[in-house]
Amino acid sequence: MKQTILTGLRPTGNLHLGHYFGAGQNWTKLQDDYDFYLEIADVQALTDNFDNPEKVRKNVYEITKDLLAIGIDPNKVHLFIQSKIPEIAELTVFYSNLVTVARLQRNPTVKTEISQKKELFGNNGESITYGFLGYPVSQAADITAFDGEVVPVGDDQLPLLEQCREIVRKFNSIYGEVLKEPQQVLSKTTRVKGLDGNEKMGKSLGNAVYLVDDEETIKEKIMGAVTDSNKIKKDDPANPDVCMVYYYHKLVNNEENVNTICSECKKGSRGCVQCKKELIEAMKEFLQPIQERRKFYEDNPDEVDRILKEGTEAARSKAIEQMAKVRKAMKIDY
Ligand code: TRP
Repeated sequence: MKQTILTGLRPTGNLHLGHYFGAGQNWTKLQDDYDFYLEIADVQALTDNFDNPEKVRKNVYEITKDLLAIGIDPNKVHLFIQSKIPEIAELTVFYSNLVTVARLQRNPTVKTEISQKKELFGNNGESITYGFLGYPVSQAADITAFDGEVVPVGDDQLPLLEQCREIVRKFNSIYGEVLKEPQQVLSKTTRVKGLDGNEKMGKSLGNAVYLVDDEETIKEKIMGAVTDSNKIKKDDPANPDVCMVYYYHKLVNNEENVNTICSECKKGSRGCVQCKKELIEAMKEFLQPIQERRKFYEDNPDEVDRILKEGTEAARSKAIEQMAKVRKAMKIDY
C-alpha cells in the first residue's frame, strides 16, 4: 500500500520560481510513489483575505493551472478544493478544544505572519481574528482528514506541522489511537533567492519571476538583476557566488553552460550584459514547456473543472471515511 501524502497551498497568487524549486518540482517527483492529496487551501486563504473573495476565487483556477503546467498529473494526484470538503471544517471545530490560545499565539509561523500583516491585524497583532489565529488548527484538520502520513513542505511550515502533531497526540491520548502523526519531507532547495539578492523570493517582496511571465517581463526582470558590485568594467574578473545572474543560471541552465559561465566570469572574459542575455534565453527555454502545458488548460477550462471535480470527489470520500472514525472515537456517532 502506498503511503498517503497531503500538502496544500493558498490560492492568493500565481506560482513563481520560488514555489517551483522550493516545493512544486519536488511534488512532481513524489506523485509516482504516494497516494497524493494536493489541496487548494481556499478556506485558509480567506483567513487573511476574507475581505477579498474575488481574489481567492480567481486564484483557485490560476493555481490549479500552474500546478498542472509544472507537471502535476491529475491521474496520480487528487487535486481538490478545501472548501468543498466540509469534514475539514468539522474536524477543525473538534480540534479547537485540544489547543490553547497561548500555544497558537506562540506559533512562530503565525507570529511572523501577524507582524507582516499590520494593515489587517494591527501593529502588535491586536486586531488578529479568531480565524487567522486558528488556521494551524484548520491545517491540522487538512492533514489528518486524509490520514496524511507524509507532508512535503518548506521549512517555514515546520511549526505548523509540529502543531498538528501535538493535536494528534492530544486527540489520541483522550479518544484513543485514531490519528497518525504526520512526518515532514523537506524539499532539497527550500528557499530560492530573489533576483534582487534577497534571501527569499516573494510576491510581497516584488522580486519574483512567475511561471506565467512573458518574454518582455522576463527581460526586464533579468536585466535589473543584482550582479557582483565590485565588477566595474566589462573585462574585470568577478565573483559569481555573489551574483544573482549566476545563481539563476544554476537553477535553469545546463551544467556545461554553468561551468563555462563560472570560469569566464572569474577570468574576466564575460560581460554582465551578455551573461544576462544568455540567462533570458535559458529562462525562456526553461519556461517554454510549462507555459505550453498551461496554455492547453487555459484553452480548455472544462478540463480544469473536470480535474478539480474528480479530485475533490476522491478527497471527499477519503475524508468521510476518516470522519466516521473520529466521530466514533469521540462518541458522537449518533
Ligand atoms: N500553509 C500552507 C501555505 O501557506 C498551505 C497549506 C494549507 C498546507 N494546508 C496545508 C501545507 C496542509 C501543508 C499541509 O502555503
